[in-house]
Parts: sequence; C-alpha cells; structure tokens
Amino acid sequence: MNTGKNRQFRLASRPVGDITASNFEYREEPIPQPSDGEVLVRTIYLSLDPTNRIWMSDRPQYMPPVEIGQVMRGVVIGVVEESKNPDFQKEDLVSGVLGWQDYALALGNTGLGISKLPSPLPCPLSAFVGPLGATGFTAYFGLLDIGQPKSGETIVVSAAAGAVGSVVGQIAKIKGCRVVGITGSNEKCRWLVEELGFDDAINYKTADLETALAKSCPNGIDVYFDNVGGAILDAVLTKINLDARIPLCGLISTYNATEPVPGPYNYSQILMQRARVQGFIILDYSSRFGEAIKDIGQWVNEGKIKYALEIVEGLENAPLAILKLFNGNKIGKLAVKVSEEPV
Ligand SMILES: NC(=O)c1ccc[n+]([C@@H]2O[C@H](COP(=O)([O-])OP(=O)(O)OC[C@H]3O[C@@H](n4cnc5c(N)ncnc54)[C@H](OP(=O)(O)O)[C@@H]3O)[C@@H](O)[C@H]2O)c1
Repeated sequence: MNTGKNRQFRLASRPVGDITASNFEYREEPIPQPSDGEVLVRTIYLSLDPTNRIWMSDRPQYMPPVEIGQVMRGVVIGVVEESKNPDFQKEDLVSGVLGWQDYALALGNTGLGISKLPSPLPCPLSAFVGPLGATGFTAYFGLLDIGQPKSGETIVVSAAAGAVGSVVGQIAKIKGCRVVGITGSNEKCRWLVEELGFDDAINYKTADLETALAKSCPNGIDVYFDNVGGAILDAVLTKINLDARIPLCGLISTYNATEPVPGPYNYSQILMQRARVQGFIILDYSSRFGEAIKDIGQWVNEGKIKYALEIVEGLENAPLAILKLFNGNKIGKLAVKVSEEPV
C-alpha cells in the first residue's frame, strides 16, 4: 500500500539478551527520490533472519554492525518503482540487503546493492525469500561444498525445521543420505519426517540427545550441519565418525547470550575422529548463486524440495515477529509481507 510515506524501523538501542520492541524506533519519512544511477525499490517481502540479531550487536562480525539511529538492515525482495540506472527498469523484481522500510534507494552513492531476480520467475515470488533466497543458498553451498555428503552417509542437521535446516535435509536426501533432523517440537519432528521425507527427527527439548542420536544414527554421523552450537553440538560430537565434516553455519543458541559462551566440551572428538569443522558465510558464494538457483529451482518444481513460509503481514509487526526465530514459534522461513506482489 502506497501511503505516500516511507515507514521505517531504525535501531534505537542494542539488545541485551532477547530482542525487545524498544530496540527499534518507528519513523515516517518522505519517500526518497532516486538521483542519477539510483533505483527506488518498494519492499514486498522483508526476510527476518537470525543474523539480524548479530547485526544489532556490536560484537566482532562479518559485516559492520548496524549503527544506532540507522535503518535496521534486512534482506528484501522488492520491485523497482523508479529507475535512474540504465541496468534496471521499472517493475523489475530485485533482491538485496536493504532495510526495514517501505522504500529504499539502491545503487548510486547509497552503496546498497541489488540484483535482479530471473525473468520469467521459475517459481512463485515468495520462494525467493525461502529456498531460492539466501537461506536456500546457505543450505546448498554449506552442505554440498563443505559437507561433501556421499550417498549412504548419515547427515544430522540442527534447527532442522527452519529455513536453512529444512533445505539441508532435503538436499541430503536427494544425494542419497540418511537424514536426521534436530528440532524443538513434536509437530516440527512430524513435519520433517512425514512431509519432507527425513529419515528421523529428534525433539531436543524432550529427548536425551546422546541416547536419541545413538538410536537414530546407528552408523554414526558423517556430516553435522551445525545451525545452533552449544549443547546440541556437544552431543553430536560424541557420535561423529572418522573424517566427519561439520559445516559451521550458525550458532543461534548463543546469539542472545549475555555472558561469554564456553567452547564445546567435547572438542577432543574433532581430534580423535580427524574431523573437519569449517565456518562459512554465504556472501562469499555470491558469484555462484546462479548454480544454486538452477538446481534448487528445479528441485522445487519437481516437488523434491518442499518449503513452508511463515509470512507475517505488515511492516509494523516486524519487531515482534523477529522473536519467533528465537522462541521457535514458526515452521520454515520467517518473513514479513510489507506490500503486495505486482499482478
Ligand atoms: N553462515 C551463513 O552465511 C548463514 C546464513 C543464513 C543463516 N545462518 C545461520 O543458520 C542458522 C539457521 O538460520 P535460519 O535462517 O534457517 O533460521 P531458522 O532455523 O528458520 O530459525 C531459527 C530456529 O532456530 C531454533 N532455535 C532458536 N533458538 C535455539 C536454541 N537456543 N537452541 C536450539 N535451536 C534454537 C528454533 O527452532 P527449534 O524449534 O528447532 O528450536 C528456530 O525456529 C542460524 O544460526 C543462522 O545464523 C548462517
């Protein structure tokens, strides 16, 4: 809805522990006008991601933190409303790291980069906040490049019913692996096994994790795709096989910590099993996103990758919606619908 204004959330304060609504300041500003070289983008979907919590803090990280007073940074799927850049036309669909606002200027001196979505779209637009967006690419490159799964191996993934984890498990199934997901509710466990075809799923909130892993992974664990860190990583380390690979994707169990977090207690297993742990940041793969779009797009269209979206309506609800990432109160990818898709 074009209200003639640009509604925004700016970072008001850095969270201590959990994010609260008071960490954001709501503002209304005039819709900005593009200068030469710039493009005005209307936000359609605002992706909410655990990394938003990292950007809100001033701990050492892979991008500069959002400064107090700046528009909150966020990944956006949007449409070009006005272009003064020859490479973009009005109505082009684009994605980019823009912000929690109705409209953003991209390119030019703002430094905010955008890229065009494929035309025609191979899948519904909303899939580009899900498996065909950054979280899908994270699953694809983290699993295939770093995890290097082989047919017949056992893959365990944590935060398995989330945006990254649900795609990791399905790609591992496509590659012929035994797949076990770890997640935080029986409903999510059922979704993973009955809808997505995981071989087994463990509710880490109710199970004794080491016992459950031993039962679900009778041949041990060859690849552990770590989205979580903490106690789940420690339990998995007790079951890894010789030459195991551990793509270190995220550490969501630590993002709200107010005290320094101890390292894994079972670190010695990395030595004993000659395992390889490798951290990665998906931005480093940006020149290869086309490969992921081609494969994931095909798998989505063939029904081999299914996805769930938790779409919250309205930009005004973003500060509360983001809490769902940390209380686990959603299945699949979390995003806010800020305005209507073009017809
Ligand atoms: N390296 C990269 O470039 C990159 C890119 C994207 C994402 N990531 C990372 O990947 C991970 C998953 O991201 P996502 O976007 O797919 O999020 P998501 O899984 O869709 O949502 C987060 C999920 O984490 C689980 N969780 C929250 N607190 C937890 C805790 N204390 N212990 C265990 N599980 C907890 C919750 O599910 P449950 O019900 O299962 O608890 C929640 O639904 C995050 O760590 C994120 O930072 C990394």
